[in-house]
Amino acid sequence: MDFDPNQFIARNVRAIPRSGIRDFFDIVQGMKDVISLGVGEPDFVTPWHIREAAIYALERGKTTYTSNLGLLKLREAIAVSVEKHFHAAYDPKREILIAVGVSEAMDIAFRALIDPGDEVIYHEPCYVSYSPGISLAHGVPVAVACHAGNNFSVTAEAIEKVITPRSKVLVLNFPTNPTGGTMGRAELQKIADLVRRHNLLVMTDEIYSELTFEGEHVSIAAVPGMKARTIFLHGFSKAYAMTGFRIGYACGPAEIIEAMMRIHQYSMLCASIISQEAALEAIQHGEADTIKMREQYQLRRNFIVHAFNQMGMPCHLPRGSFYAFPCIRPTGLSSKEFALRLLESEKVACVPGSAFGPSGEGYLRCCFATALDKIEDACGRIGRFVQTI
Ligand SMILES: Cc1ncc(COP(=O)(O)O)c(C=O)c1O
Repeated sequence: MDFDPNQFIARNVRAIPRSGIRDFFDIVQGMKDVISLGVGEPDFVTPWHIREAAIYALERGKTTYTSNLGLLKLREAIAVSVEKHFHAAYDPKREILIAVGVSEAMDIAFRALIDPGDEVIYHEPCYVSYSPGISLAHGVPVAVACHAGNNFSVTAEAIEKVITPRSKVLVLNFPTNPTGGTMGRAELQKIADLVRRHNLLVMTDEIYSELTFEGEHVSIAAVPGMKARTIFLHGFSKAYAMTGFRIGYACGPAEIIEAMMRIHQYSMLCASIISQEAALEAIQHGEADTIKMREQYQLRRNFIVHAFNQMGMPCHLPRGSFYAFPCIRPTGLSSKEFALRLLESEKVACVPGSAFGPSGEGYLRCCFATALDKIEDACGRIGRFVQTI
């Protein structure tokens, strides 16, 4: 009898699809001279003083485990930074956990909170991990579809429509991957009222907050009364160009941080001490680097958005993050067809909007964390491709 290893794979794992981004980039691998506007990571190398801090940590023999919660001095520095920039005060000893990226922080938060059948609401198009992360924790993902007519903003009214007695957690992500949407204080206040009325918990992923180009970034954790029912997630990957260091963190009520820590201690144990030392340098002395990178992203954003609109692919101005999300509907192609044919004919890699949920169909995600001359070249190629359709 043939042996089928698939029979041993858990049902909920079998049910989750491969990430639409990864699938696409398997095709890109092995192709030559591709300009990638695909994977969402800064093209900058981590600033030297941060890399040097990692090297210096190694030189000093910092090669051990840390506390499960992470280095206390890093948690203390995070508390100072979060209070300064997000206006929410957390106790570094009990209310902050350092994880292996926001990815791990989010995963253990879902696992710490969700009982089988609990519903977790999120706005879509969204980061590819939310729905699978919820399913892997045996929860039920509930998407609130957002639309271009409204700049892909989510409203309290739209969220309220999907609330049921099983709703437990609301996931927010501003600035948003993939749309670049941001959220002002007034709408956040309405969402906060709704959350309190329906006794929900908020998980807010603010990994792109430093990359806000217009207006002030406001965290729901700072809305009066919300800190107690919010898990604030943030990390070093985007603001400091530190994706490979894999450091993120969660701030929240001590009881929930303790519950997350119990999962973390048996799975990850702790984040790498070398990366934590580098993160300390970043959070204490890296602000000027972030500002410089943001200025570059803003120039690139202005160029790429203008270029898409010129090509007849309407593109709203992303107010944060490093993604443009042009509409490709005028071409008559599906987002996957568009991305595949663009890659084949002009060797430009972008991610089909459908990778971010059904409401992303008709759009393309183009990451502008790429050098301006490459973006110019890519836009020339995309323009040529559009002429051939
Ligand atoms: C919205 C969002 N959250 C979380 C992550 C994961 O970040 P990290 O590198 O900290 O795991 C990403 C990465 O692209 C993201 O876009």
